[in-house]
Amino acid sequence: MEETLTKTNTIIEEIVTGMKSTPKQLPSKYFYDEKGSQLFDEITRLEEYYPTRTERKILESNLEDMADKLGANVELIEPGSGSSEKTRILLDRMDSIKCYVPIDISGDYLFKVADQLREEYPNIDIEPLATDYTRPFELPDTHPDARRIVFFPGSTIGNFKLNTVQRFFSVIADIVGKKGGVLIGVDLKKDIEILEAAYNDSKGITAAFNKNLLIHLNRKIGADFNPDLFEHKALWVEERGRIEMRLYAKTTHQVKIDDHTFTVEKGEYIHTENSHKYTLEEFSGIVSPWFDVQQVWTDTNKLFSVQYLVPRI
Ligand code: AVI
Repeated sequence: MEETLTKTNTIIEEIVTGMKSTPKQLPSKYFYDEKGSQLFDEITRLEEYYPTRTERKILESNLEDMADKLGANVELIEPGSGSSEKTRILLDRMDSIKCYVPIDISGDYLFKVADQLREEYPNIDIEPLATDYTRPFELPDTHPDARRIVFFPGSTIGNFKLNTVQRFFSVIADIVGKKGGVLIGVDLKKDIEILEAAYNDSKGITAAFNKNLLIHLNRKIGADFNPDLFEHKALWVEERGRIEMRLYAKTTHQVKIDDHTFTVEKGEYIHTENSHKYTLEEFSGIVSPWFDVQQVWTDTNKLFSVQYLVPRI
């Protein structure tokens, strides 16, 4: 009980700090309650949202080549594994995978998915780990001779700020060691029209996903955001190389959070998410303190990339 209270207070503090910033901001991690995860699932199937299907196609078309790069006796580690959906493409077709370590902060769901995977893949050792993977963590030492390969699909890396990206790669470099590698999905820079359409879909699913953040926070910390008073808009910000998801206030109104009251002016926005896009050169520069890019696979339109990184010795 006391622990829950402390946790709620920490979240309130985090949200209040964001609402005091200019521009106002809310952390994108609160998109993903049950409804938010369901809406994100819908997003991945939208016509305009190219990343999921393009990455899937790249994986499916290059599996043999990827298996060659990964080598024999692989321990596959997936931070933020969720439903492990894309991983099944690898588990189905790569005999070299001896062990799979899905990592997720939400333990209940993780262990449920792990049980299903054990049934589906009786020859692969499934070793779920419930932890926050952006902080240093330890892996079970059950396969000391295996090559540790981190699989990080979906261009989730694009949602991280530069300092989080750097912390992530330094944690991962420690995990995979000298003989390991990283197989990662990275979304690429492209025409603004394609990018903005992907985050402003015509069915309004991304808008619902963005506003669900407010509904989630109302429930979680007793805030009183009115989602109907906001309009979703995602736009490409060239100088930061990213799509920014925003919620614009339609009228001037007040929002109460705990014992704080915030005025949101008409036309003012709350910044809710960043989705960075990279050129191949930019990305190889970012990982260069820890990794070399050994191979890049893309689609014919160069929308998305899957990259294989190896540690710098
Ligand atoms: C999870 N992540 C990679 C998605 C993205 O494209 O940045 C989240 C998302 N936000 C709006 N649409 C999808």
